[in-house]
Amino acid sequence: MVDILPISDQAIEIAAKAIRRGDLVAFPTETVYGLGADATSDRAVARIFEAKGRPRFNPLIAHFATEESAREAVAFTDVADRLADRFWPGPLTLVLPRRTPCPLSLLVSAGLETAAVRVPSGPLAGTFLSAAGVPVAAPSANRSGRLSPTAAQHVANDLGDHVAVILDGGPCAIGLESTVVDLSGAQPTILRQGGLSQEELQRALGMRLRAADADDEAPRAPGMLTSHYAPLLPLRLNADAAGPNEALLGFGPDCPDATLNLSDAGDLVEAAANLFAYLHRLDTPDHAGIAVSPIPEQGLGRAINDRLRRGAVRE
Ligand code: TXA
Ligand code: MG
Repeated sequence: MVDILPISDQAIEIAAKAIRRGDLVAFPTETVYGLGADATSDRAVARIFEAKGRPRFNPLIAHFATEESAREAVAFTDVADRLADRFWPGPLTLVLPRRTPCPLSLLVSAGLETAAVRVPSGPLAGTFLSAAGVPVAAPSANRSGRLSPTAAQHVANDLGDHVAVILDGGPCAIGLESTVVDLSGAQPTILRQGGLSQEELQRALGMRLRAADADDEAPRAPGMLTSHYAPLLPLRLNADAAGPNEALLGFGPDCPDATLNLSDAGDLVEAAANLFAYLHRLDTPDHAGIAVSPIPEQGLGRAINDRLRRGAVRE
């Protein structure tokens, strides 16, 4: 059974070490418990999707100890400066363009050119994130489709087999996820209502905000779009071999001719970790298209196939 560790310097050190090793750690924030992994490691982030059993790759929030460290990963705008100064640490997530280079795994962004960042509050979150020394990707620490956890025991019941450590900081003060504001487009848009109210945000900015769920003109949350990461080149799925001028993105030991192999060993966690980075590497004018070997429709293979099918839709 997983260790539930009450707050202490030693518990935080154990949890920080687990993150740096690439393991999963559940930790409390002011909103809900997060299922955390080293956000700079594709492999560690892939394990989050495996543990949650999500059928698709939704982009995740990267958590930082300080605003300064968040600025190293994404490009702030004037509005971002104002909102971060006013509400961080706190229940607000900002979606901003990734910097180049960006320390965050592409899997955190699910292949998008933006990343969601936040500096959480709560008695433990900042100390844990400083000790970890890396940004921590964390969705709510529940299996897909279950309730968000607001106590350590909720996490143990739902995900106990998947996490190395659960840091117990008692019940979460807010109990509702952070508010997500997209600042990467022409107008700020609330993508998800949460612990910081729309009214408070509007007062701070002195303007009305669009909300994606209330306003049909506003962009939908990215997980819901048909293709929010499509390579420029055509994708051909379930391919046995590459056609003329095609690159072959292989999977498993039976692909000796693969241009790149998502996992020689046929390991779906490794394949998920490599997916977005390899698609980017193959998506160049050197090839006429990208053929992809069959990926088994099980475990993380379902999320990989979901993303590949969306990527194959030409709009
Ligand atoms: O309160 C919270 O935000 C909790 C705690 C653990 O911090 N975390 C959380 O993460 O709720 P998650 O992964 O369950 O929710 C992430 C939300 C989703 O609605 C996702 O679509 C959006 O943030 N999001 C993440 N990255 C995005 C991006 N690049 N563009 C647009 N939306 C993004
Ligand atoms: Mg959630």
